[in-house]
Amino acid sequence: MRVKKAVIPAAGLGVRFLPATKAQPKEMIPIIDKPTIQYVIEEALDSGVEDILIISGRGKRAIEDHFDHAPELEAHLAQKGKEAALEAVRRISAMGNIHYVRQRQPLGLGHAVGCARAFVGNEPFAVLLGDDIVRSDVPCLKQMLDQHTRLGASVIAIEEVPQEDVSKYGVIKGREVGPRLYRVEDLVEKPPADQAPSRLAVMGRYILDPWIFDLIKETVPGAGGEIQLTDALRKLVEAQLLYGYRFEGRRYDVGYCLGYLKATVDFALEREEVREPFLDYLRRKV
Ligand code: G1P
Repeated sequence: MRVKKAVIPAAGLGVRFLPATKAQPKEMIPIIDKPTIQYVIEEALDSGVEDILIISGRGKRAIEDHFDHAPELEAHLAQKGKEAALEAVRRISAMGNIHYVRQRQPLGLGHAVGCARAFVGNEPFAVLLGDDIVRSDVPCLKQMLDQHTRLGASVIAIEEVPQEDVSKYGVIKGREVGPRLYRVEDLVEKPPADQAPSRLAVMGRYILDPWIFDLIKETVPGAGGEIQLTDALRKLVEAQLLYGYRFEGRRYDVGYCLGYLKATVDFALEREEVREPFLDYLRRKV
């Protein structure tokens, strides 16, 4: 069944990025001049998704404004003849069908995804987390959708991480069953480094069977006192197939300071107009 809907949880409080996130959503923090959530939405649309649900929350209205029309700004840019800026602004408000629902309490990622039940209905759907931005030739979600079509089962993105980083992620126990492909046998959310079942960490892309909504409902708070998606997936693997796919591409964890900095530098070097002077600056710096 073709996946047409994607869910982007964006209700988190952004504690790791305080004080920047005190009065603005962390999803609106830009890498250079584009908010992080826009990169993720572009990936979903480039992968063929038609409808996107953003799980919003208190203090997140700037996200809705960003993807809406901005009549005063557009009129101003038109009057000043700033065509390129006008085009950039207009393009954003024409970016596919974006819907919103609020998670009223920050009870965890599993709970946030559970808020998408009415939107998703009874079909497989994608989840994209905004802290992970992937640069790749084929969009990461598209790679996973191709696997989903081929395998007819839920697929989650995985990546091998250094041992000292496993405690930041969900980690799978799995068996390699093909190129880049693992059959997931179990998962643990943020295990201590010495208790992790592997170094294969769950990254923020999932294609899930709608049965997950029933499982989320039964899930009690886990790591960090939150209702974890990983714990619901753990129940899913008891009765259904779940595959971990090691996607091709470079992932940036922009939810952490260092990952954010790496993304900023790499993305700047991709930009024609600043590449040379910026490289020059970096060379002198190091
Ligand atoms: C979430 C998930 C975790 C996953 C990670 C990927 O954690 O709970 O399983 O590995 O995203 O970025 P968070 O980053 O919200 O703490």
